Amino acid sequence: MATINLNLKVWRQAGPGAPGRLVAYRAEGISTEMSFLEMLDVVNEGLIKRGEDPIAFDSDCREGICGTCGCVVNGVPHGPDRGSTVCQLHMRRFADGDTIVIEPWRARAFPVLKDLVVDRTAFDRVIRAGGYVSINAGSAPDGNAISIPRDTAEQAMDMAQCIGCGACVAACKNASAALFTSAKISHLGLLPQGQPERERRVMRMVEQMDVEGFGSCSNEGECEAVCPKEIKIAGIARMNRDYLRATLFRRPEAAAGGFGG
Ligand code: SF4
Ligand code: FES
Repeated sequence: MATINLNLKVWRQAGPGAPGRLVAYRAEGISTEMSFLEMLDVVNEGLIKRGEDPIAFDSDCREGICGTCGCVVNGVPHGPDRGSTVCQLHMRRFADGDTIVIEPWRARAFPVLKDLVVDRTAFDRVIRAGGYVSINAGSAPDGNAISIPRDTAEQAMDMAQCIGCGACVAACKNASAALFTSAKISHLGLLPQGQPERERRVMRMVEQMDVEGFGSCSNEGECEAVCPKEIKIAGIARMNRDYLRATLFRRPEAAAGGFGG
């Protein structure tokens, strides 16, 4: 089993608002079969043995499906592999003697809680503003009862893959949440069950995105490049069209009040 030795520079920050800095660590005898987070586990075991504070980082499933993990590896959210989360990044991607710089997501709407852990509850509030269907859509219909063109169904499923990790925000020079929000709007707005609340949904979620302090989209495409689920920026254009239509034909109930209210 091949092993490598690495020089890490890890962002250490004791808490929100505390000053942070990059701290150098040696990671020795790292198996190339380990995942990136397992490598951090090994480093943390060494820190704990020495009586030092372990590096705080988020993770849960470690299978690329939950969206909990996330850090910037050598300047790229989730690291060098395209279409992958950092928990699915493997150490065979690195060479013996490499220096790896590890930082948290950097965005005003994602304040650092500790080290590599950021507060992503702004995403929860965007979802709460309208990322759901509240009409009574009944129980699951028979697969062929409502005809949906295959392309439309595929697009909705592609958008539904967003795991809410926040890499799109971290990659964007404006710290825009447009890719995330468009995915959450599109996967509902493309399907029949999402139509009755389509206008209210887009208005409320876009407005909440602004309230949270995310920047505007200026079509850089960095978000799509780092998204582990390869969500396409075409969704942002769809969101903008929906928002414009909702604004132009604004009905009083579209902006105010809760769904179904
Ligand atoms: S759009 Fe992609 S990068 Fe952004 S939160 Fe969803 S899965 Fe993560
Ligand atoms: S820990 Fe769940 S996606 Fe990485």
